[in-house]
Amino acid sequence: MVEGPKKGGINGFRMQLLALSLVLVTGLAQDVEESMTTSEVISNWGYPVETYDIITTDGYILNMLRIPHGQASTNNSSCHRPPLLMLHGLMGDASEFVINPPESSPGMILADAGFDIFMLNVRGTYYSQRHVNLTKDDREYWKFSTDDIVKYDLPAAIDKSLELNGAKALYIVGHSQGTLISFMLLADLPEYNRKVRAMFELAPVGNIRYIRVFGRFLYRIVVSVKGILDFYKVHLGAHEFGLHSPRLLGGAARFVCGPLFNYEASYSFFFVLAPSVKFVFMSMFQLCRDIIFIGAGPPSRTFNFSRVPLYLSNFFVSTSTWNILQYGQTLLHNAVYHFDHSPTENLRRYGQIAAPPYNYSNIDTDVYLFWSRNDWTTTPYEIEKWIIPHMRPVVIKNTFEIPEYNHLDFVLATDCREKVFSKIIAVVREKELDACLL
Ligand SMILES: *[C@@H]1O[C@H](CO)[C@@H](O)[C@H](O)[C@H]1NC(C)=O
Ligand SMILES: *[C@@H]1O[C@H](CO)[C@@H](O)[C@H](O)[C@H]1NC(C)=O
Ligand SMILES: *[C@@H]1O[C@H](CO)[C@@H](O)[C@H](O)[C@H]1NC(C)=O
Ligand SMILES: *[C@@H]1O[C@H](CO)[C@@H](O)[C@H](O)[C@H]1NC(C)=O
Ligand SMILES: *[C@@H]1O[C@H](CO)[C@@H](O)[C@H](O)[C@H]1NC(C)=O
Repeated sequence: MVEGPKKGGINGFRMQLLALSLVLVTGLAQDVEESMTTSEVISNWGYPVETYDIITTDGYILNMLRIPHGQASTNNSSCHRPPLLMLHGLMGDASEFVINPPESSPGMILADAGFDIFMLNVRGTYYSQRHVNLTKDDREYWKFSTDDIVKYDLPAAIDKSLELNGAKALYIVGHSQGTLISFMLLADLPEYNRKVRAMFELAPVGNIRYIRVFGRFLYRIVVSVKGILDFYKVHLGAHEFGLHSPRLLGGAARFVCGPLFNYEASYSFFFVLAPSVKFVFMSMFQLCRDIIFIGAGPPSRTFNFSRVPLYLSNFFVSTSTWNILQYGQTLLHNAVYHFDHSPTENLRRYGQIAAPPYNYSNIDTDVYLFWSRNDWTTTPYEIEKWIIPHMRPVVIKNTFEIPEYNHLDFVLATDCREKVFSKIIAVVREKELDACLL
């Protein structure tokens, strides 16, 4: 057997060196939040936070955070706090729900509204890279696909949340990959329909077929190198995809784009001297914006550009290459299937040579979809032509179009409380008359 590259390889030492020089260049201007853990960020804003290690039945140790109540919580024995599980997107983690000040962070908005908040970090992400028998440097650790997140991580997180809260069923708020895995869960393990009272799906992922611009380009790559990918999957196993280097990513964003986001303020002196300088800065600003949003779509007017370094330092969180490959397979199949291993492995796992599809008709809980025409990743076509037709019509209780939002604005835009979460709170208030919801 060929040994894999040593610990981290290039993403180890050289990355740190690069990060260090970038940090020096940008004048050590790191935002304090960039160096905090997610639970430190939550308590820094004055919220209670609890941390749990959940062990899945296949031995992965997952980190789950809980915000048991909001800042101004009344201790009222005549009403209860409904449990709500938040599921993050691909290449992100639970930090995406608490990355803004409390009035625009989904996790804190919902805790203040009266929910008992649980935020899972799925396997492979930085805070969940542990296993009872393996380390993250073992190739075996990374041999998981989206199926395994669905089959092991979600049941463990749901059961633990219900145990801690005491309720019989909870609510799910999913964003991007979080929506995909929650659909897959209820399709594959229908007994969990009873444990989920409703799902609020932000930027819901279906078959990813209608992805635009950058995504289309990736699609063409996937199609043209399918043979290589199949060889990789069967003969080379799985690897870590992503990195944890807030200093590098945040530093790079600050160094390359940071001053440009405020170019009017930073460079106005030069603009007076030479108007053409302004044109150069405007073009560079456009380029930065375009690179950042090439996958997600144009940002809404309430996107906070000053926080881009912080957002980027929490992005590109690791997952397994097999999870990414399963997205590629979904694109090629034009439908959500189990991970397609080699025919022999499929036979062993599924009892048949071809990987079986997920049956979305099994979804039997209330579903609320939040979508936008500006979302280039999960476009309106995806929702109209795939998600809605694949579910039984009776489960889709409502759809909300959020004008102007791109794929990330659902959790990052500073007006997400008004545009998204007030609607969720209103729906739950009607379902649970005895809940303490503000
Ligand atoms: C961990 O290792 C022990 C001892 O070899 C074994 O019994 C157990 O099944 C392993 N657990 C998992 C989840 O692989
Ligand atoms: C509510 O009050 C009970 C009993 O007085 C106490 O045990 C519990 O910790 C309080 N909870 C909160 C959230 O303050
Ligand atoms: C406790 O909750 C009940 C039901 O929601 C409400 O009527 C009451 O005013 C609350 N009491 C306090 C002290 O907040
Ligand atoms: C935007 O980000 C800056 C820098 O982090 C912060 O000071 C400000 O409060 C944010 N604005 C809003 C509306 O959240
Ligand atoms: C999907 O599930 C529904 C009921 O949940 C069943 O009627 C249907 O036959 C299933 N479809 C397939 C292709 O298995």
